[in-house]
Amino acid sequence: MTNADLEKIVDTSDEWIVSRTGIKERRIAPEGMAVSDMAVEACKKAIESSGLKNEDIDLLILGTVTPDYKLPSTACVVQEKMDLPNATAFDIVAACTGFLNGLSVASALIETGAYKNALVVGAEKLSSILNYKDRNTCILFGDGAGAAVLTVSDDDSGILGTFLKSNGNLRELLWVKDGGSANPIPDGYVSEGEDKVMMSGSDIFKVAVKQMCNAAVKIIDEAGLTSEDISLVIPHQANIRIIEAIAKRLKVSMDKVFVNIEKYGNTSAASVPIALDEANRSGKIKKGDHVVMVAFGGGLIWGSALIKW
Ligand SMILES: CC(C)(COP(=O)(O)OP(=O)(O)OC[C@H]1O[C@@H](n2cnc3c(N)ncnc32)[C@H](O)[C@@H]1OP(=O)(O)O)[C@@H](O)C(=O)NCCC(=O)NCCS
Repeated sequence: MTNADLEKIVDTSDEWIVSRTGIKERRIAPEGMAVSDMAVEACKKAIESSGLKNEDIDLLILGTVTPDYKLPSTACVVQEKMDLPNATAFDIVAACTGFLNGLSVASALIETGAYKNALVVGAEKLSSILNYKDRNTCILFGDGAGAAVLTVSDDDSGILGTFLKSNGNLRELLWVKDGGSANPIPDGYVSEGEDKVMMSGSDIFKVAVKQMCNAAVKIIDEAGLTSEDISLVIPHQANIRIIEAIAKRLKVSMDKVFVNIEKYGNTSAASVPIALDEANRSGKIKKGDHVVMVAFGGGLIWGSALIKW
């Protein structure tokens, strides 16, 4: 869906969207394609490039706010569709940081020795919860999925650190008010958009810049590194202006910051793993590189991770 397509639906323009967000197009999953279907495509590619077999995966963690069903978890649906007989599977609801929360949990569980090979997925069909009458939100988001396989490393590569934080006081800055147990949808409900994503964009913007910068700085500091040691920053793709502010604060040039927002918009939990995969497959990450991932989302919630590739 291009900005020109959106111009036909809401009062907006390509010029406004590109200049305020950096987004030119976003992917919209067709009717009948669930989050699990997108996740399966990403999982297949991740397992294939890891060299492992499906039976080797003993942990599957999937971050999403747009699950296939309220019950069971989408991770369990993916387990069945992928045929992962030896995995335990569960979802994480952490909006746009879902992949980093999954990475953090998977890494900690692997470190205990209880699990060996984890599949961590971020997948979203945000188009299913967007209000296409609200130009403040519908232009920002898209659908997609990304996945990574984590395993025990036999050298000094791996996840050097993760940082996760949230502030539930700010949850109403980005939320879907109706449809859960707090506000169930009664018979005869007529939607006025409160069963779709609602957002206070400029309030979120300020918190996002501050907390993503803090999260990125913290993870680098804690590892005893400086931004000069960082080969690539992979930020959540929410807004090019937020991404540029992070680069400025970290004092890294934009050629060390991975950006693909123009193609996908904000895909929430899928954003970081899609960017990680594109960076990896395009040869932007080399063995031994320090890579920082940083994300922010509804909760409000934010976090970062530092990888030695
Ligand atoms: C949403 C966002 C792009 C809006 O940009 P902004 O510069 O803050 O713009 P504002 O919200 O101040 O709106 C400016 C004007 O543009 C208008 N506007 C909003 N959306 C518009 C659109 N799609 N097209 C045209 N005009 C639009 C507003 O109505 C407002 O008009 P007004 O001045 O007449 O009231 C920006 O705030 C943002 O990216 N915030 C973070 C959102 C986010 O990332 N959420 C997900 C977190 S993971």
